[in-house]
This record gives sequence, structure tokens and C-alpha cells, in this order.
Amino acid sequence: MTQGKMKICFVLGTRPEITKLYSVMNAAAAHNNVTPIIIHTGQHYDYEMSQVFLEELDLPEFHYFLNVKSGSHGTQTAKLLIEIEKVLSSEQPDCVIVLGDTNTTITGALAASKLGIPVAHVEAGCRSFDMAMPEEINRLVADAISSIFFAPSKVAALNLLYEGRSQDRVFLAGNTVVDIVEETREIRKSMILDPEQIGEYDVVVTLHRQENVDDKTRLRNLIEGLRRIEGKIIFPIHPRTRKNLDKFGLMDLVNSSSNLKLIKPLNFLSFMKLLEDARMIITDSGGVQEEAVMLGVPCITARDTTEWPETVWAGGNFLAGLDSDSMTERANEIINFPDEELDSSVNPFEGNAGTRIIQILTELWNKNKLTIPKPSMSGGKYPLPWLRKLDDSTTDEYSTTLLFDGQGRGQVESDNQTEKKVVRRLKDPTENEE
Ligand code: UD1
Repeated sequence: MTQGKMKICFVLGTRPEITKLYSVMNAAAAHNNVTPIIIHTGQHYDYEMSQVFLEELDLPEFHYFLNVKSGSHGTQTAKLLIEIEKVLSSEQPDCVIVLGDTNTTITGALAASKLGIPVAHVEAGCRSFDMAMPEEINRLVADAISSIFFAPSKVAALNLLYEGRSQDRVFLAGNTVVDIVEETREIRKSMILDPEQIGEYDVVVTLHRQENVDDKTRLRNLIEGLRRIEGKIIFPIHPRTRKNLDKFGLMDLVNSSSNLKLIKPLNFLSFMKLLEDARMIITDSGGVQEEAVMLGVPCITARDTTEWPETVWAGGNFLAGLDSDSMTERANEIINFPDEELDSSVNPFEGNAGTRIIQILTELWNKNKLTIPKPSMSGGKYPLPWLRKLDDSTTDEYSTTLLFDGQGRGQVESDNQTEKKVVRRLKDPTENEE
């Protein structure tokens, strides 16, 4: 058994990484045998995106602030890698925890794994299957170099197994967003949002994805679409989106829209309160889709794909695609004819993830199993991970196909026969080797 306390470094740097690691950091801080070290990379650095956002959240102390800030993907990634490596080299933790799909996530994972430190990826296995998204690239990179995978849902766990990850390294951890939404529910009940700042509203909008806001035509179409919604909209605006509205000369269009009010980004609790009291949410954020179904507020996602298909299957999230007419039509339908399916959707995610993640990591560490995978090739056997996933006993599990009908509705389709045929065909080459 390993002696002393286990040192865990958390590497985070954007708003969602802080809220989604909230319960994990608190569980680590509360554990007698864990020393958490928290490294904020400074990827999000504006006052509204960092300090103000943390107000009222009961978080453990942050030990490092790396001040990396923005830049092109390459520049930002390079700077992050240099700065994170310095800290990890001096701290020498037993494990590094990263979350999700940001540039901070992949650089934390890369710096650690090259230093021989096992990486635990929280929110592992999420896939939008859209390689045009920087976040999808980041998800794949993080999962390619992590050692322990904490999947937030069964679908995410199956994605990992299907890609060949070993079953003893994939854990169905639950979703950490449930933890923070539930833990702060009571506080939100007594909160009143500033009526001067917020005013009356029906719809909350958040848009910040590169594919939506870095393209002038797309951003203009989205704003035009929002203008045609028959309800009052409040839009806490991300700095990337604000900069692009200015750059593309679209601010006049926004300001002349009588139903559209831009406000600065809010702190987390106020933002949750804002969502909770809305009739509907329009977003391109992954985290907001999850929060919407957890809060029971209908959500429209202004994207073609989602890494959270469970929210669509649960009935609470409508995938509008990149056609802003579809977004507007659906929003007006919901406002004018409240949709029972969207309103009555049930949260598909489990909570208690923070405690579970720390418990699993400490148990692995106690048993000296918190290691970087290293297969043995002795005896001339070369490990072919794809053989494992073709194992008959698990075949049925992998036969789930994720389908969207182009109208924003999704379903799971199982076709065991097709899957088995594919498996049989793929199995042939192995016969020669045996
Ligand atoms: C990042 C994540 C994204 C996540 C989002 C949450 C990557 C590739 N993307 O996107 O997955 O959903 O955070 O918000 O890591 N900026 C400021 N002040 C800030 C932060 C950003 O002005 O405090 C501006 C800068 O001009 C910067 C741009 O916003 O160039 C984008 O910031 P960046 O952190 O690179 O990506 P996000 O769009 O926030």
C-alpha cells in the first residue's frame, strides 16, 4: 500500500471547467488522504469570466494562476503547455485531473502524460463526431493520452469501450453538473436577480462557439433569427461573441432589436437562476444543454451536432441545426404552444460524481493501480485492442447507433444483426494469427 497523502493536481482555466470540477475539487479537499493542488491556467482571464464568475461558489483555494490568456489555437496551446509543464515538474503529483474539451484540457493532459504522471479525464468519452469543432479534436486528444476515464453517461462509456479503451480504466462516474446544480438549489431559491440589470425576459440566449460566432454570415443569421422570436430575450454575452459583433459591424443590428438585451456574463449562481426562471433557452454551449435538462427548461441548440445526445433523447433539447429559421420557428412554437414533451423531459444524468471520482482514484492509488497503461509484450504477444472490442460477450452493447432525424429529434437504434455481420467479417483476419 502507498504511504502518505495522495497529491492530485487539477488543471483548469475556463468557466465550465471550474463549475464542472466544483464537486470533484470539494471532494478532494474534504478527503483526509488527498492533497489537492489547483492550477488555473488563465485561459479565461476577464473579470467577468474568472473572478466574478466564482463569487458565491464555495471553492477550495487555487494555488497557481498561470495568466496564459488568449491567442490563436496554436499560440494558446503552446503557451499553456510550457507553463503547465513547469508547475507539474515541480509539484510531481500522483495524478492530474483534467475536464472536458478545452485547450487547457489537452495541454494539462499532454504535459502530465509526457512527465509520466497518470491523467484522469473527467467527462471522458463525449463525442459530437464533428471533426470541424476544435472541442471534438480536444476530446479525442484528451482521451488518447489519459489513463483513467470518468464517463458522465453510459453513451460516453460505450464510446470509450468501442474505441478500444480497457474496461478496467473506464468508470461510469455520473455527471458533475448534476452535483453543482443540486448543491446550489437551496441558495438559488432565496436569490433575486437585479431587476434593473435583467428586467423581464422569456428566453435566455448564449452563443460563443467558434463555428457560430467567428463567421460573419452565420452570426448575422443567428441575430436575425433571434430578432424574429416573439418573446423577450436576455443574452449574457461571451467576450468572443462581443468582439465579433463589433468586428463584423453587427452591434447596430443588435442594439436596434427591441426584443434583445445584451448583458455582461453573470456569476454562476445568477446564471443558473436566470436559466431556471426562463421559459426557454437557446444555446450552442455543451454545459448549458446539460443544465437546461437538469433544470427542466426547454432548450434549443443552435448546432448540427451535440456531444450530449442524452439531452435530445430525454426530450428536453431540440437540435435546430445551422439553419436559424428552424431555431426561430421552434422557439416561436414553444412560446405560443408550450411543448409537453420538452417541458416534461426527465434529467437523464446521475449525480454524486465528485465523491465517486475521488473515491475511485484513492482506491486505485492505494492498490498501486493508478498507473499509465503499459502492456506486456513478453511471449511474443502483441496487444491488439480492437480484438477486445470484438469479444462476443460485449458485442450487443456496441450495437447502439445514435441517430438524428434532421428535425432535431434523436433516437437510439439497435441493429444487432448488422453489427454481428460486421463483427464476423472483421474477425476473419485473426484466424491466421492464432
Ligand atoms: C473556450 C473553450 C470552449 C468552451 C468555452 C467556455 C477551447 C478551444 N474552447 O472557448 O470549449 O466552451 O471556453 O467559455 O478551449 N476572451 C476574452 N476574455 C476572456 C476569455 C476569452 O476576451 O476571459 C476572448 C478572446 O478574444 C479569445 C476568445 O474570447 O480569443 C476566445 O477565448 P478562448 O478561451 O480561446 O475560447 P472560448 O471561446 O472561451
